[in-house]
Amino acid sequence: MPDLMVNIDHVATIREARGTYFPDPVYAAGIAEMAGASGIIIHLREDRRHIKDRDLRLLRQVVRTKLNLEMAATDEMVRIARDVLPDMITLVPEKREELTTEGGLDVVSLSKRLKKVVEKVKEKGIKVSMFIDPEERQVIASKSLGADMIEIHTGRYSDAVRDIERYEELKKVIDAAKQGKELGLGVNAGHGLHYHNVKPIASIPEIDELSIGHSIIARAIFVGLDKAIRDMIELMK
Ligand code: PXP
Repeated sequence: MPDLMVNIDHVATIREARGTYFPDPVYAAGIAEMAGASGIIIHLREDRRHIKDRDLRLLRQVVRTKLNLEMAATDEMVRIARDVLPDMITLVPEKREELTTEGGLDVVSLSKRLKKVVEKVKEKGIKVSMFIDPEERQVIASKSLGADMIEIHTGRYSDAVRDIERYEELKKVIDAAKQGKELGLGVNAGHGLHYHNVKPIASIPEIDELSIGHSIIARAIFVGLDKAIRDMIELMK
């Protein structure tokens, strides 16, 4: 069974809807860890639409499991990561106008820039993951840049409407996971996973961690964060 890493960005989204100081993502991290989460994920976006620099700094002090910072490969973010020292970073593509991270990072065409970023971050002992679409060339390019891990984008699998389409997307995730492991990479997966589609992905033996946010925070509104996380872990078993 993979470990569950909980993305708490949307606790901050609710806070920002009113510009108040609550709900505080720092509290969410504590509850998530007590409920059995293996780590906490936040995405510090360029526009700071949900998670703020203050959250990252406090979470670095509070999180006792593992803190994974999702970030764009910009100079500003590299500076912040080197300063705050999360346990790992996940490099993601970022567009201002998107609602959430859309496609995977094109590691193949951005290889020159990404290689420098990977080196600078790893210099500080921070592990690096690449958020990529389940494509062979992206897995190979991630390995050759010196990434420690990949995170396979499950968005297409999650968005698939027809069973046949979902099965095809699942197969791509399985193949990319196998390939990643064969190359010696850590293999994570996430995006769009929820209580009704997580099982087939959680059953892939090569996957080490799942990164899940929106569905857990959404369920937490009705049943509380502790139960929402425990329910997800139960399904993943
Ligand atoms: N992985 C990455 C790289 C993401 O950007 C996100 C969304 O912030 C997730 C996983 C989690 O996706 P979701 O919120 O749909 O569970």
